Amino acid sequence: MPMNVAHRGASGYEPENTVLSFRRALEMGADAIGIDVHVCASGEVVVFHDDTVDRTTDGFGKVSEMNLHALRALDAGKGERIPTLQETLDFVGSRMKIDIELKETGCAAPVREILKYAVDQGRSYDDFFISSFIRPELETMRSLSSDVRLSVLFNWMTQHRALEFAESIGAYSVNADFTLVDADLVRAVHEKGMKLFVWTVNEKEDIDRMRALEVDAIFSNYPDRV
Ligand code: G3P
Repeated sequence: MPMNVAHRGASGYEPENTVLSFRRALEMGADAIGIDVHVCASGEVVVFHDDTVDRTTDGFGKVSEMNLHALRALDAGKGERIPTLQETLDFVGSRMKIDIELKETGCAAPVREILKYAVDQGRSYDDFFISSFIRPELETMRSLSSDVRLSVLFNWMTQHRALEFAESIGAYSVNADFTLVDADLVRAVHEKGMKLFVWTVNEKEDIDRMRALEVDAIFSNYPDRV
């Protein structure tokens, strides 16, 4: 069975990247959550997808230019607050794995510190995946740690030499837009000793097709369908 990854939490049901969506994912039996991170102006790593808060909160402005206090004042949906990465790790504990997508340059080092602390406290590096479209960020993360599981994200625009790059940094997986996936890609990734994770698969017929292709993880806004 592929790993069932709740994309931004159970974001088909609850506000994305909030504790409410993570709790819903847990209730729906997800094996993992896939979250996004930025570093805010005061230096904390916060769980948020877009560069600006405009789409998913009642405020406006760039995440990188707002401090934690300002971000905390926003309503991220249903009264939820934007969580920090540390709070998310604390909430999830050992109940689910976490895929952490680095959304901007400069995330790797602070995220690595948080993971190292978690591992020092008894967690395992195997409980986390660090993914990104930003290849230099993944290279930075690898230079900081040989233990972290890295995942190379790609879509139609960024697929060029993705597998070769993934091999070069000793990636654990490549994470593909599911519309790119066919049997040849599954075979090529597995022959290189890596896993193939796919996103974002929401329709039942697409989920069934991905399962038949024997991908290793399915990211969905609807973990109950997976
Ligand atoms: O992690 C897979 C997927 O989340 C990548 O796209 O835009 O949702 O970050 P996006």
